[in-house]
Amino acid sequence: MVKWWKGSTFYEIYMPSFKDSNGDGIGDFSGIISKLDYLKGLGVGGIWLTPFYPSPKVDNGYDISNYYAIDSDYGKMEDFELFIREAHKRDLRVIADLVLNHTSSEHPWFQQSKSSKDNPKRDWYIWRDKPNNWESFFGGTAWEYDKTTNQYYYHAFAKEQVDLNWANPEVKCAMFDVMKFWLEKGVDGFRLDVINFLKVNDLFSDNPYENGEQTHLFDKDQEGILSVISEIADFVHQYPDKFLVGEVGSEDLEILKQYSGLRMLDVVFNFNIGSIGEFDAKTLFQQLTATEDAYNKEQVPTLFFSSHDMSRHISRFGGDKGRAKLIATLMLMAKGVPFLYFGDEIGMRDWITDDISKMKDVQGIMGYQLALQAGKSHEEALLSANEKSRDKSRTPMQWNAQANVGFTDGKPWITIPKNANQVTVEEQLDNPASMLSFYKSLLKLRKKHVALQVGNYKLLRFKDGMIYFVRTNQAEKIVVALNFSEQAVSLKVEEGMKLLLSTKRTSFEGKNVLTVLANEAIILKGDISNDLIKEG
Ligand code: NOJ
Repeated sequence: MVKWWKGSTFYEIYMPSFKDSNGDGIGDFSGIISKLDYLKGLGVGGIWLTPFYPSPKVDNGYDISNYYAIDSDYGKMEDFELFIREAHKRDLRVIADLVLNHTSSEHPWFQQSKSSKDNPKRDWYIWRDKPNNWESFFGGTAWEYDKTTNQYYYHAFAKEQVDLNWANPEVKCAMFDVMKFWLEKGVDGFRLDVINFLKVNDLFSDNPYENGEQTHLFDKDQEGILSVISEIADFVHQYPDKFLVGEVGSEDLEILKQYSGLRMLDVVFNFNIGSIGEFDAKTLFQQLTATEDAYNKEQVPTLFFSSHDMSRHISRFGGDKGRAKLIATLMLMAKGVPFLYFGDEIGMRDWITDDISKMKDVQGIMGYQLALQAGKSHEEALLSANEKSRDKSRTPMQWNAQANVGFTDGKPWITIPKNANQVTVEEQLDNPASMLSFYKSLLKLRKKHVALQVGNYKLLRFKDGMIYFVRTNQAEKIVVALNFSEQAVSLKVEEGMKLLLSTKRTSFEGKNVLTVLANEAIILKGDISNDLIKEG
């Protein structure tokens, strides 16, 4: 029996930006419920919700001030419960984003912790008389002075996101209670935020620098982290069929591979593949191969190219729709669990602002301030802020021509007149040539062919700018060729292969030479009893 998550594609919903139902300019649970049929029709199997708990939203919900409730922007607990029921009714699973590493500085735990040195919650956070040189991942020092007790507290992200002290067993117990609560509410698992950050170096050794940049050697992936993760995994997996995906903040496969597998997380995000900056087919191929080589047979990679933390791949990789389709094909046909970011299925693009007052993202705003402090001009600082800002991929889902392509007064849902380049669900829904229809076809194929869900690579190769692979299980053999180059590339294949999908043709004669056209993505089904692609 294939585990449900191996056969599923997850769809990431960035809470404020997916669908507003009450006209307050912010997405909510009732809005999501109204779009569940759309998601079912798209063909995804799971939904990943970014944090929906009460939060001052300094970092858009990744600063939780109450782990046991629903933020009023998104609805009430009843709306959440209804959402879970409606999703399950449609066979859609739901995973909740959970931030175990830090809380909001407004969380009562921290309010107590900071009130005095002998408060029982003092040791729930990380306090020191003197800061070391650790830098926050948003820039600047990771230590904030607190005058009440004349000490500094540690925050790996914004100063309003205070790191919990996981060396204290009470913290672990409190967080296990949180997980239990949401599992009993019916979530099918969690996306664990920056989960390799839970432990920091006991000696608080200074981090080294390389080419002027700090290397985060002592503030993540520290001793003891793997056993904590394994306890979390054992705890969650006591509940049948629950799934854990970890955000392990690293692109290093040697690190990533330690976190998933038996008695560990089910999967981790493969940033080594997903966060490739500039497009290069060879690098992509090398990362797919390296992952395949590094992982053991219990480990499955994840496949994604966009998220609420990065530029959308269509924009990042040059804006070309043909390339976006090749990437979509790779993401949904290669070996791994895909995570599709909302809006990518219609080809939504990045948003850049020329007005710093419109920027919402703390990382972008910090980038702007730090650049000014370093003596940069407003223009230069704005450039650097836009590079860092994650607002670019957080604009509202373009359901129709009235959808905003940016933010107005910090709210995603204020409507504006149609922008010429705007893509919309409405326009694409019944158009067989649209990006949306293409995604639907890919998702349908993935659902139909078990080899595409759990099949191994019988072969994974690169030739003249083309990535191609064969996936098989006992029953099926599927050949996928993705020609990222501007020239046709030929392959010898077995005779009689059947065309499943192509971005450039509607038939294939089944000859023993397959000439993959420039920029073509093609998927063929072969006979399992035959030999595979002939090399050459
Ligand atoms: C990773 C989340 O994806 C990101 O959005 C957030 O800023 C950091 N973790 C801190 O929680």
